[in-house]
Amino acid sequence: MKNSKLTIMFLALILTAVLSTSCSSSSAGSSESTNTIIPTSAVVTKITSLSSEELIEEGEYQFESACSGCHGENAKGLPNLGKDLVDSSFVTDINDNALSEFIKVGRSAGDKDNTTGIDMPPKGGNPALSDPDIKAITAFLRSLQK
Ligand code: HEC
Repeated sequence: MKNSKLTIMFLALILTAVLSTSCSSSSAGSSESTNTIIPTSAVVTKITSLSSEELIEEGEYQFESACSGCHGENAKGLPNLGKDLVDSSFVTDINDNALSEFIKVGRSAGDKDNTTGIDMPPKGGNPALSDPDIKAITAFLRSLQK
């Protein structure tokens, strides 16, 4: 809710910037439309940094539905189901892309790298999980490690 209020404030800022520029250019009688580019891009940067928090929130939501059944709501793992992902050196040692790729393929019980003899199904067994969903889950897992 906080974030959406901020977003509305930024949108209001953009509007003010655009309106004031268009007013001054119409009174000057010449086209100064390039002026609007500078304030708009500054505001867009702010919105992008806000949405990384929203990405984590989205990831938490996706994690709860697709992963927490085995890894627990806090991602600390559940006995005989899924491993602790917070203190996992496997997770901390790979980059975001590799982590997203891993989530897509999983690690079957027959895989030579499997450590528990239990399946980690591709996408946690939820084929509907999209690339943006997985990116959000990756951001959520990273947020637990800081
Ligand atoms: C059906 C249970 C199950 C579900 C659902 C599941 N996992 Fe897993 N996951 C496992 C198991 C079991 C392992 C351990 C595999 C092994 O023994 O190497 C594992 C391992 C992992 C690992 C590697 C951890 C390490 O230290 O090696 C990651 C990362 C991971 N899961 C992420 C996820 C994410 C993200 C989701 C949701 C999209 C998910 N898992 C859903 C069972 C599950």
